This record gives sequence, structure tokens and C-alpha cells, in this order.
Amino acid sequence: PKEQAFFNFMAAPAFALSSFTLIKKFLNSSLRRGAEEALTVLLWWEPFGRSRVSGDCHRRFNISACSLTTNRSRQLEAQAVLFHHRDLLLQGTNQLPRLRAPEQLWVWMNFESPSHSQGLRELAGVFNWTMSYRVDSDVFVPYGYLQPRRDPHLFTLPKKSKLVAWVISNWNERHTRVQYYHQLKNYLPIDVYGAHGLELKDDSVVKTISKYKFYLAFENSQHPDYITEKLWRNAFTSWAVPVVLGPPRSNYELFIPSNSFIHIDDFPSPMQLAVYLKFLDKNKSQYKRYFAWRKHYDVHVTSFWDEHCCRVCNAIRTVGKRRKVMENLANWFES
Ligand SMILES: *[C@@H]1O[C@H](CO)[C@@H](O)[C@H](O)[C@H]1NC(C)=O
Ligand SMILES: *[C@@H]1O[C@H](CO)[C@@H](O)[C@H](O)[C@H]1NC(C)=O
Ligand SMILES: *[C@@H]1O[C@H](CO)[C@@H](O)[C@H](O)[C@H]1NC(C)=O
Ligand SMILES: *[C@@H]1O[C@H](CO)[C@@H](O)[C@H](O)[C@H]1NC(C)=O
Repeated sequence: PKEQAFFNFMAAPAFALSSFTLIKKFLNSSLRRGAEEALTVLLWWEPFGRSRVSGDCHRRFNISACSLTTNRSRQLEAQAVLFHHRDLLLQGTNQLPRLRAPEQLWVWMNFESPSHSQGLRELAGVFNWTMSYRVDSDVFVPYGYLQPRRDPHLFTLPKKSKLVAWVISNWNERHTRVQYYHQLKNYLPIDVYGAHGLELKDDSVVKTISKYKFYLAFENSQHPDYITEKLWRNAFTSWAVPVVLGPPRSNYELFIPSNSFIHIDDFPSPMQLAVYLKFLDKNKSQYKRYFAWRKHYDVHVTSFWDEHCCRVCNAIRTVGKRRKVMENLANWFES
């Protein structure tokens, strides 16, 4: 019912300013100061085997009385233990903790899409909660979100000298995005960066893309709510208009204004999309309409992984230690 309310509210057709009030509440869930129980969240494996969690949840995200640890000797004090799916696959389920207090929440954490998440069927009945980009997760953490501004502000677009950019590292001829690119490039020049194209140093992604008018925010697979840093960081942070390939337009519109992006499904063919992009290239006022929303919102790119861990405390405070067992993780995540 909570998730349903979220959907309905976010789907408000006018995309009123207030549409984001809910997502803000959802992420910041208001707390009664002083009255909150101190919570400990244990991260069982450092995601991808690297040490990246050093979150001061209060300073970074205004989430107080939430301490993160990777010290397994503290397992029994932890209200929640997080398990990153990729590491779970590598380590095996026999590396899960042996002790399990009935009140302790085991949280399955995954930010890959179902197409790139194996072994789900073996995890039936193991976890209590889920954390993912899906809105209906117990701990919903999107790759990014818009924060409403108190005061509308003026902005200037970065200088745009180039047309279309695409950064891709995992090139796979069977991916819809690569097939679409092969057609689109017949009608329009596209600068491809990454393993299959121009060199791009990690720290210059945003700087490089800022010179472009458009960015191909093409997801590696198409699933509900699966909208990644390709949109939030590569396109939005760079002030390039995203041309998206992912879930349907209506799904994007739960998270971002309808006039902030171009969806490939808006056009019957890649050729027609190319014609439209070339039209926008020549027509400044029409192009600028894709930035009107910037007056009212700031783009927030979610910080991996400290923000994710801190959000668990928010979730516990919002819904309590809701009893639950994920009896069928695969069916849920693949639906
Ligand atoms: C931090 O959270 C408290 C409630 O927990 C809220 O009253 C306050 O406005 C928040 N501060 C910021 C900067 O968001
Ligand atoms: C881990 O936690 C235990 C129990 O609180 C403590 O004795 C130990 O010093 C901690 N280890 C590290 C590396 O912080
Ligand atoms: C831009 O497009 C609009 C709408 O199609 C049109 O009315 C206007 O004349 C165009 N401006 C230029 C400079 O082409
Ligand atoms: C968590 O899941 C385990 C295993 O299915 C179950 O025994 C336990 O009662 C659950 N705890 C909560 C708080 O939901």
C-alpha cells in the first residue's frame, strides 16, 4: 500500500512541484530528534571487495544515530546486516554468518539488473529485506534523484560545441542498445567513448560530456525502475539532454520531469530520432526547453555505498523492524 501510494503520487500527470515532496520525505523520513534508538548496520562484505564504506551518516546525509561497521565481531549488536549480491555470488552462501538473531534483519543489496544478477533462486527464504533501485524494495535507493529547490534559480548552460556522446564499456552486439546505435549512427555523428571508442579518463567523464548537447543514456538491459548513473551522472550532471533507452517513458516519468529527456520510443525509427536531434541542434529555443525544470530542482547522484548503508537506518525508523522473509527473491526481482 505504501509503494502503491508512492507510485500514484509520483505519477501525477502535471508533474507538479509537489511530486517530489514525497520522494524527499521517502528519502529523508522525518525523525523525532532525541527519541531515536541508536542503530548499527553491519556490512558483511565490502562491495566488490573494496573498502569504501566510511560513512558518517549524520554529517553526510542528515541521518542521525546510525553507525556503519564492517567489523564482524559486532554482528550481534547490529539491527541489520547487509549482503551485496555480487560478493555473495563470489563467496558462496556458506560464507553467510552462522549466528542469526531472530530480530536481526538480513538485507539483500543489489544494484545490477535481473539480466546481470545470477543465482537468485538459491536465495529463497534467506533474506528479510531487499535494497535496490526498485521502488518496491524495502530500502529503495535510486541511482539519483531530484531535490526541489526552495527558491527557483537562474542558470547558464555550459558551452556546447559537440552533438551526441555515448560512453560504453561493456560492448555486446546482442544488447538492444548496441543494435540501436548501429542504426542511429547512419543518420547522425555519434562520438563513442570507452573500450570501443575514444579514450576517456575516469575523472573527465562529466567534463567531456558537458561539451555535448545530447547523451545516449542507454541502459544495458530493460527492466522496471532500472535507470542508472548513465542518466543521473553522465547526462544530468553534465548538462547534456539524455536520450534514453531503458524502461518505458511512463516509468522514467515517476522519477524525472517529462520534459527533461528524449525517449527513443517517442520516435517510430532511429532515423526520425536523428532528424529531431538535428532539428534541436539548430533551434536553440526548442533545445533549451529541456532545461526548464532545472530552475526548480537540483540533481543528486547517490553516493555508493555509504548512502545506501545509511538509508537502512531511515528505513528501520520509518517502518520499524518489519517482520518479513523473502521467500521468493527471484520472482520478485525478475517481475
Ligand atoms: C535534518 O533532519 C531533521 C529531522 O530529522 C530536519 O528537521 C532538518 O531539517 C534536516 N536538515 C537538513 C539540512 O535537511
Ligand atoms: C571489532 O569489534 C570488536 C568488538 O567490539 C573489538 O573488540 C575490535 O577491536 C574491533 N576490531 C576492529 C579492527 O576495530
Ligand atoms: C524553432 O522551432 C519553433 C517550433 O517549431 C519554430 O516556431 C521557430 O521558428 C524555430 N526557430 C528557429 C530559429 O528555427
Ligand atoms: C528474518 O528471516 C529469517 C529467515 O527466514 C526468519 O527466521 C526471521 O524471523 C526473520 N526476521 C525478521 C525480523 O523478519
